Amino acid sequence: MQTNLQFPNLDTARLTLNTLTIDDNDGLFSIFSDQAVVKFYNIEAFTSKQQSLDLIDFFNQRFKQQEGIRWAIRLKETGELIGTCGFNSFNSKMHNAVIGYEFASDHWGKGYATEALNAIIALVYSDNSPFGELYRIQADTMLGNNASESVLKKLGFKQEGIRRASGFWKNQYHDLTCFGLLKPEFTPR
Ligand SMILES: CC(C)(COP(=O)(O)OP(=O)(O)OC[C@H]1O[C@@H](n2cnc3c(N)ncnc32)[C@H](O)[C@@H]1OP(=O)(O)O)[C@@H](O)C(=O)NCCC(=O)NCCS
Repeated sequence: MQTNLQFPNLDTARLTLNTLTIDDNDGLFSIFSDQAVVKFYNIEAFTSKQQSLDLIDFFNQRFKQQEGIRWAIRLKETGELIGTCGFNSFNSKMHNAVIGYEFASDHWGKGYATEALNAIIALVYSDNSPFGELYRIQADTMLGNNASESVLKKLGFKQEGIRRASGFWKNQYHDLTCFGLLKPEFTPR
């Protein structure tokens, strides 16, 4: 990543992607306190607004430390926070990154995930990416997360295999399906 990197704001047809602030706490809590949203996550649904406040701080610190980035995703029309997405980690030596995302369940099925992820992937695979040279983006999904798999496939990700028992949370081991998207395979939508 560039040193002193400015947070890269993005615009799509229907969405604005920018930084999360503490003013987003109610919106973020509402997303992460929904059982449906965290069903395939390694965390339980939030029960306190301190947890969402801590998460905002975690995301913003990760960007400051140049370890990853998380965008707030807002509807252009109303400004409502409807989700977050970003790169959980960058491995600048290996030229790869791991993508993550979630949306408020009352906004599922409207194409917002595909639209937002297309924009952030286009940014990191562009010639003037602020994150340096990247060649591979990885996503891990839990078996049964068909909506997430559908989004990844629409964006050109290929299913590469299943890593057996590679996750442990909620008191059990989880197989994770590994998806990858290489730079030459990506065509912005
Ligand atoms: C996965 C998620 C981000 C998708 O968001 P979204 O805005 O609804 O995604 P989109 O509308 O862009 O696309 C969803 C696609 O999945 C399909 N889909 C939805 N539910 C599905 C299901 N149960 N089985 C198969 N496909 C499904 C939709 O039909 C759509 O595909 P289409 O455009 O070809 O019809 C959203 O469901 C979510 O936030 N889930 C919880 C968090 C999560 O699991 N994050 C990913 C962790 S790997």
